[in-house]
Amino acid sequence: MSRMVEGQSALRLLLIGSPGAGKGTQSSRIENNFEVNTISSGDLLRKNIAQNTEIGIQAAKEMKNGAFVSDKLMVRLIDAELEKLGSEQNWLLDGFPRTMSQAKTLDATLQKCNQPLNLVIHLNVPEEVILQRIMDRWVHIPSGRVYNMTYNPPKKAGLDDVTGEPLERRPDDNPETFKIRLQKHHELTEPLLDYYKQKNILVSLAGNTSDEIYPQIRDLLQQRFRPEDSSNGSQP
Ligand code: AP5
Ligand code: MG
Repeated sequence: MSRMVEGQSALRLLLIGSPGAGKGTQSSRIENNFEVNTISSGDLLRKNIAQNTEIGIQAAKEMKNGAFVSDKLMVRLIDAELEKLGSEQNWLLDGFPRTMSQAKTLDATLQKCNQPLNLVIHLNVPEEVILQRIMDRWVHIPSGRVYNMTYNPPKKAGLDDVTGEPLERRPDDNPETFKIRLQKHHELTEPLLDYYKQKNILVSLAGNTSDEIYPQIRDLLQQRFRPEDSSNGSQP
């Protein structure tokens, strides 16, 4: 596990990419190799739905239909998670912010504690390849672990590798809902790329597979973490 170089400011990283671009997959790899905590908006919402919380009840319909959950609810959810982590720990956000309003609110929150975002990674994966990935995806809801029947199958069919619990299909992983999620992404999330480009913190990484993209992410992060642990960075 690579640790931070002393004197570096804590990592404040966003992963932005279309549905199925591999945000969850890359987050796990980063978390396995670097001392970074992941906050995934989608995973948090799915946990809330599974536990039937007030937030889960409010979010379930939008998620099932591929629409966005309200900015207000999302900000409340993510702020609570950021507060739990505090200012010392490195973190990355997967799936938040995804509207301009969320992005500006996050900036204001981070400004208050003088910890602005320092890196935004855009996962730029061709649309032709992602629908098939989504159709092949199985997830372990409590942990957010993601599998793919061809690319990354579980050791035992239908079961999570770590807990042995059953895997599920996401209710929004069907061609109709996927189309809406993609549209929402183009319309509401892509404008964020320009916003972060102007702040000079955007890096766009392209590749057909996450295996092409991960080494590029590792190289970017290695600059902030101790070089002696670099061998760890290549593990999936
Ligand atoms: P969320 O859960 O964030 O879904 P998403 O953005 O649509 O992204 P996905 O999780 O589908 O894809 P991913 O990029 O994580 O890809 P993955 O690594 O799984 O959000 C769900 C919903 O919650 C939203 O629609 C919205 O309703 C709501 N929501 C969440 N955040 C919100 C916010 N901020 N504001 C408002 N609403 C919000 O990979 C995909 C598949 O590909 C997997 O099967 C994986 O194994 C496979 N794969 C990965 N790499 C490869 C490879 N190299 N080759 C082949 N397959 C691969
Ligand atoms: Mg995901």
